[in-house]
Amino acid sequence: MVFRDKFKNADTALTFNDVILLPGWTTLEPNEATVKTRLTSDVELNVPFISSPMDTVTEAEMAIAMARNGALGVLHRNCSSEEEVGMARAVKRAEAVIIRDVITVAPDTTVGELLKLMEEHKIKGFPVVGRGGKLVGIATWRDVRLAEPTLKVRDVMTKRVITGTEDMDLEDAKKLLHKHKIEKLPIVDGDGHVKGLITMKDITLKGTFPDAVRDDEGRLICAAAVSPFDLDRAKALDRYVDILVTDVAHFHNKNCFEATKKILQEVRAKVIVGNIGTYQAAEDCITKLDGVEGLRVGIGSGSICSTSIVTRAGAPTLYATSNVADALKDNKSNVSIIADGGLRNPGDIAVALSVGASCTMMGNVFAGCSESPGRLVAMEGRYYKEYYGMGSAKARKKRFVQDRYSQPSKAINEGVEGWVPYRGPVADIVREYVGGLKAAMGYIGAADIPQMWEKARLALVTERGYQEISPHDVIMPGPNRLL
Ligand code: XMP
Repeated sequence: MVFRDKFKNADTALTFNDVILLPGWTTLEPNEATVKTRLTSDVELNVPFISSPMDTVTEAEMAIAMARNGALGVLHRNCSSEEEVGMARAVKRAEAVIIRDVITVAPDTTVGELLKLMEEHKIKGFPVVGRGGKLVGIATWRDVRLAEPTLKVRDVMTKRVITGTEDMDLEDAKKLLHKHKIEKLPIVDGDGHVKGLITMKDITLKGTFPDAVRDDEGRLICAAAVSPFDLDRAKALDRYVDILVTDVAHFHNKNCFEATKKILQEVRAKVIVGNIGTYQAAEDCITKLDGVEGLRVGIGSGSICSTSIVTRAGAPTLYATSNVADALKDNKSNVSIIADGGLRNPGDIAVALSVGASCTMMGNVFAGCSESPGRLVAMEGRYYKEYYGMGSAKARKKRFVQDRYSQPSKAINEGVEGWVPYRGPVADIVREYVGGLKAAMGYIGAADIPQMWEKARLALVTERGYQEISPHDVIMPGPNRLL
């Protein structure tokens, strides 16, 4: 081995700022392009955006907003298994034709306990189920709001319950709800067992979000992060989520592979693995892990990452995505690629899709939205939201993500803590970013994402060139969030 050759044969690990998309012949107007994308064998997103599993980015509210807007949120795992399952349940219950996972209460529940359940699940009515699982009443906010907390549900519930049957269509259910001026219709079988629940809220929501991504039962699509080493959590989440995403900084690791094999055998949800950054890692994932449906790609490019600086190891998202895409092509694999980290604007997204990604994952962009869990603060007349890396001291204090980073690095932090400008609702960001992405597709002449893979050509820009292609020689009134 000649050590000097390590430089001679070195790759150039290009990043988004190093490249530019070249305009091509087009017969297409940007608004004619479609940004639909295939994520797994049974999930197609209407927009190629995914919010990161980080505790300042994706909890239930963000996941609901993302799915309603045609995208996807991956719930974070920096919490107990019960809390993560709770978030997944909330996403699945947010909208449905018939709610199957009905939360019921027993007649001897106290009013105080019921009020707590209402607060915890953010719902205002529960079917009351007696011995043998039969419906005996319904307890709604109206029944309990003025009742003594020590009273039992059986003393305050509505005993004559209007119910529906499984073969009932939504129009009939609507008529019943309207006729009796009620909000909730328990669905029961011939023996009086609760089989589901139809709510006025769900009926009213229907049609409100035409781009929403839903499962077969009309519920919003939901994904959740897991440690490859937490099979119990994966199994607990599996009841509720469509997709499980392994969440470690360096997945190309024997122990991660072995542990993930068990998850793949035991869950019905589709499994996306990551993060990886090289051709070899991609080839190993698709040849050694039977059933993997997606790869989360990019190491150390995230806006809050310090991995590449403190360890000098990393695979920038653009470089990693192109290498992984080649590995998939060479192996004739149709596993999807999620380019993750370092994407700030629609241009970065267009570049990531051009080198083989099907979707893009963003933390920074969505951390600034109203639906993210981070605190909103005002500083010097502007609003910001808290955003920190999952390898930062603050995230690691909670301990649940300790195994995201490799054993030796446990002693150091691989992420930073900070603030991002407040950006308003997810719906506005998605609209703005889809607009920008379609404009880029217009320049490339690509009608859809697979055409971007084929048609897009890239050129390199120098550091001085980058200054010229950025707005320059003008004084701007304030920061621009897309630059
Ligand atoms: P952006 O650029 O959108 O990137 O903020 C989000 C992605 O960054 C990854 N991530 C981290 N990487 N240290 C890292 O090296 C960290 O503390 C950290 N936290 C998150 C993750 O892949 C996320 O989707």
